[in-house]
Amino acid sequence: MNTPRLVCDACGLEWPESTPKTRCTCGGLLAVRHDPTLRGDALKASFADACCAMPSRTASGVWRFGSVVQPLAMAEAVSHPEGNTPLLHRDALDRWSGLHGMLLKHEGHNPTGSFKDRGMTVAVTQAMRIGARAVACASTGNTSASLAAYAAQAGLPAVVFVPAGQIALGKMAQALAYGARTLLVDGDFDACLRLAEQAGEELGIYLVNSINPFRLEGQKTIVLEMLQQLGWQAPDWIVLPAGNLGNTAAFGKALTEAKEWGLIDRLPRLAAVQAEGAAPFASAYARGFDTLVPVAAATIATAIRIGAPASYDRGVRAIRDTNGVVLSVSDKEILEAKASIDGAGVGCEPASAASVAGARRLRHEGLISPDARVVAVLTGHLLKDPGVVERMHADPGLIAKPNRPVSVAAGFDAVRAALA
Ligand code: F0G
Repeated sequence: MNTPRLVCDACGLEWPESTPKTRCTCGGLLAVRHDPTLRGDALKASFADACCAMPSRTASGVWRFGSVVQPLAMAEAVSHPEGNTPLLHRDALDRWSGLHGMLLKHEGHNPTGSFKDRGMTVAVTQAMRIGARAVACASTGNTSASLAAYAAQAGLPAVVFVPAGQIALGKMAQALAYGARTLLVDGDFDACLRLAEQAGEELGIYLVNSINPFRLEGQKTIVLEMLQQLGWQAPDWIVLPAGNLGNTAAFGKALTEAKEWGLIDRLPRLAAVQAEGAAPFASAYARGFDTLVPVAAATIATAIRIGAPASYDRGVRAIRDTNGVVLSVSDKEILEAKASIDGAGVGCEPASAASVAGARRLRHEGLISPDARVVAVLTGHLLKDPGVVERMHADPGLIAKPNRPVSVAAGFDAVRAALA
């Protein structure tokens, strides 16, 4: 069997797989390294077989890839299940983006409505394996919602650090409903992450932010499942929104591993899309990745309102390894993209729409050709942020074609007049 190893990104020091640490003593982040016994077609076949072998576990779109995620935990996984999200196509979005056949990998179809469930099933499973007494995360909302649900399933106490007044209603509702101890921090996400890391060190609580190596292993399965859905024919481009860069890092790792293990024969290019007001990664890219300059982040896409991405070095590697690009789009572009995605009957939260806004921009700039095979990742569900939907359809000037609600008196004359 493939026995995964935990290795420091920075100094190469090896740690026991059961360590509760996310960082090496040198400060570097720990990563999981695999050496699967199967490769190429045999590995693909094992994923396909797992799909129907043991429905209780491998019904999950994460755990059927368990042999290259966390093989030591497959029998004891805390699984909802999760994953198995669709690849969608809508003509209306082709027309809007200028692309022919753009596919949407809709991670909002996960149990708590975001891609975070893929990492969280693995991180909470690992927390149980190592006997953690509690779990914690900092979050712009989705990670806290997901942690709260998986911790509740596992019977583990959960603490979430969220920036007060900066998380969307749906996400806050989930953290409270699933029973997480919810700390509304008078600061931004970056302050929350510092506090969560400190709680990990000083209170012995297991940290499950995306700097947790097992979170990334779970999030890799967005890419593995997408490639499987495409018959292991890699697309030309994968476009995703980028904040703390955990997902960008996971995508890069998944793709380089898939190539190394003979699952695909060429690498797609990654396009990581940030919001203009929270774009330290895009700025660093424009400067040839000289250094990360943190910013005071501001954007309507609260999920990616992050000024000092924790997985910056890994994000850089993912972009370099895939000959990728990083760009930023304005809140206006994000809302227009969201209006188009919503209006096509698909729907997503604002941060997710950044990927489609980015795909459109790259098409218009000529970097992506109209016939390129593009997969844009929608990271979260429309109902995560009902407040933005209300505002964009009420406030004048936020989007080109708002769908204003119409107040009518409770009589049919008023209805007839309203529908005339
Ligand atoms: N899209 C959504 C909907 C998110 O919630 C996030 C991150 C991202 C994109 C960006 O992913 O941080 O790995 O680059 N949300 C985190 C959270 C920060 O706390 O829920 P990233």
